[in-house]
Amino acid sequence: MKVVFVCLGNICRSPMAEAVFRQMVKDRGLEQQVVIDSAATSSWEQGNPVHSGTRKKLAKVGISTDGMYSRQLSSVDADADYIIGMDSENMMNIKRMMQGKTNAKIASLLSFAGSNRDIADPWYTGDFEQTYRDVCLGCEALVEEIQKKLQENGESNGEKF
Ligand code: 4NP
Repeated sequence: MKVVFVCLGNICRSPMAEAVFRQMVKDRGLEQQVVIDSAATSSWEQGNPVHSGTRKKLAKVGISTDGMYSRQLSSVDADADYIIGMDSENMMNIKRMMQGKTNAKIASLLSFAGSNRDIADPWYTGDFEQTYRDVCLGCEALVEEIQKKLQENGESNGEKF
């Protein structure tokens, strides 16, 4: 299973989602079964490290973003199972960039938690706490969905859990 989180710059929200989701997947012992990445719809921050606001917020909860750098969404992401945007503008751009090239489920992160809200961009709001709460809400719901899918796939392959 491969999941790619996407935002505008790939320095604030989508790396936060990538790192938080990686921790949740690890906590459930699923890290061998899920590949996690993130990317930008723009090339504006290409090669830049994670924003200090995201780094500082995640450091407080014991999560590192060392070694993560911005890159743009591209055809290398076509093999994903999920391509997940943070807001409606991301969704439009992901569809424009990837439609017809991928069988991935393209969805907004908060849609997994039953909400059609956007995840606010802290690049503009400065509020990394609110963004973190929304990222956690979406990632919790997503990890539930993916764990169920992995179990269903395992069972149909005759594996026992
Ligand atoms: P992100 O935030 O999409 O959550 O990474 C942004 C980062 C950079 C810019 C805009 C949004 N920018 O204009 O460079």
